[in-house]
Amino acid sequence: MKSIAVVSTAGGTGRTTLTAALAMLLARRRRPVVAIDFDPQNLLGAHLGLDTLSHTGIASAIADSTFAWHAGTWRNSEGVLFVPHGQLTLTQLAACEARLASAPRWLADAIAQIDLPENGVVLIDTARYPSQQADHAVRCADLVLCVTPPEPAACATLIARLGDLRAACANVKVIVNRMNPARDMQRDALAMLRAALGDSVSLAQRVHLDAALPESLARGTWFFDDAPHSQASHDLQGLANWMDAWLDPRRTGERT
Ligand SMILES: Nc1ncnc2c1ncn2[C@@H]1O[C@H](COP(=O)(O)OP(=O)(O)O)[C@@H](O)[C@H]1O
Ligand SMILES: [Mg+2]
Repeated sequence: MKSIAVVSTAGGTGRTTLTAALAMLLARRRRPVVAIDFDPQNLLGAHLGLDTLSHTGIASAIADSTFAWHAGTWRNSEGVLFVPHGQLTLTQLAACEARLASAPRWLADAIAQIDLPENGVVLIDTARYPSQQADHAVRCADLVLCVTPPEPAACATLIARLGDLRAACANVKVIVNRMNPARDMQRDALAMLRAALGDSVSLAQRVHLDAALPESLARGTWFFDDAPHSQASHDLQGLANWMDAWLDPRRTGERT
């Protein structure tokens, strides 16, 4: 079983969108998948097919140690086991973050309780980095996917935090999301990112901008089913293929 944290240093980069899409696409490749919502926004469930925001979840167990977080899990129509974050008040959220700060292994210990086979994967959607939630996820991850749009401010915040991310997890990959080749500015931002990353962190994959992606979410359908031949669908399938190969225990030599 491997854990993958999906993080970003800017807001609204596509962390939740990519976590949900990858969970679905890996489940369709017959991989046992657990998707954990570790972001107080509590939105991953909506992407995975829940009609309402779940009131309780993994964070309820952090704020109140008598609550068993396994109680609130739910399996979607394609077999993804979903662990909601839970809807916390400001006071509960402060208590939750204080507990995470004082118990640095809380999330790692919770994930260790999940009984997944060797080929299984735990995907963790996080709050924006730096935060207690993202820090926990990065520290217990075998792979960190950093999502960024190819825009100067977002790339600059990623570059500024890259040292911390790499100190916490040896395996960091950058996913460029919302690529729009028609925009010159994005080319400049990508060049800046590439120069800053060097060879040590690979700029693994790109996902193109597609206005149909949020529309599919609003309709409650899967974008890669609605528009299977779109560039963004190809990008997502390519990313899922790459992850599937990375996760294959028979191909550990290819894990770079
Ligand atoms: N490749 C993309 N093309 C178009 N819209 C996208 C793409 N990726 C994400 N979005 C949209 O961007 C918004 C923010 O995405 P979200 O996954 O909620 O970001 P985060 O979890 O990082 O805050 C959503 O409306 C989502 O539908
Ligand atoms: Mg999100």
